[in-house]
Amino acid sequence: MKLTYHGHSVVKIETNGKTIFIDPFITGNPLTDLKAEDVHVDVILLTHGHNDHVGDTVALAKQNDALVIAPYELATYLSWKGVRTHPMHIGGSFTFEFGKIKLTQAFHGSSYVEEDETIVYTGMPSGILFHAEGKTIYHAGDTALFSDMKLIGEMNDIDVAFLPIGDNFTMGPEDAAIAAKWLKAKIVVPIHYNTFPIIQQDPQQFVEMIGRVGRVLRVGESIEL
Ligand code: NI
Ligand code: MN
Repeated sequence: MKLTYHGHSVVKIETNGKTIFIDPFITGNPLTDLKAEDVHVDVILLTHGHNDHVGDTVALAKQNDALVIAPYELATYLSWKGVRTHPMHIGGSFTFEFGKIKLTQAFHGSSYVEEDETIVYTGMPSGILFHAEGKTIYHAGDTALFSDMKLIGEMNDIDVAFLPIGDNFTMGPEDAAIAAKWLKAKIVVPIHYNTFPIIQQDPQQFVEMIGRVGRVLRVGESIEL
């Protein structure tokens, strides 16, 4: 399995012959190294409806005939835009041909703003547990710190956890350091920082705070498991 960070909350997972993107915010993402028109993707996983997470989903899904997996309300809304979806919800898991996905809770909002400035509420936000090839990945989505991260850590042997550290909208570095301790992941990668001035953080300082499990991935950098 290969995991690549593409800036903000964009994580690419390559496993079992499939290319999977979590929260593919590419167009308008000042940090990413990707161009939407060049992206090949088989499956898109979305944590919530905010535009900096849904990103290029509709265009990418149409261009690649990719399956979009998202919380029910968001999946329904995106299906009306003509993409193929698989709705799920918090606490539910489903085994796909490429791996098993379970949605976890996240303390945040979930809405999509259309170009005409209509705001569409898209249900609950989520985190994602992804299992394939005997490995477990946790992408927390956008969330505050919550104590059930202890439970997630107890129930899952997490190999890599992607945690937001940007503060303001999500956990900041101090809270994310507590999350890292509770989740007991073997590797913790900070995400959702430095994309915008309001979420400016020093990821190096964060990984120093959490010790040897911390790992900053540069944009375009990968971890092989
Ligand atoms: Ni958000
Ligand atoms: Mn966000």
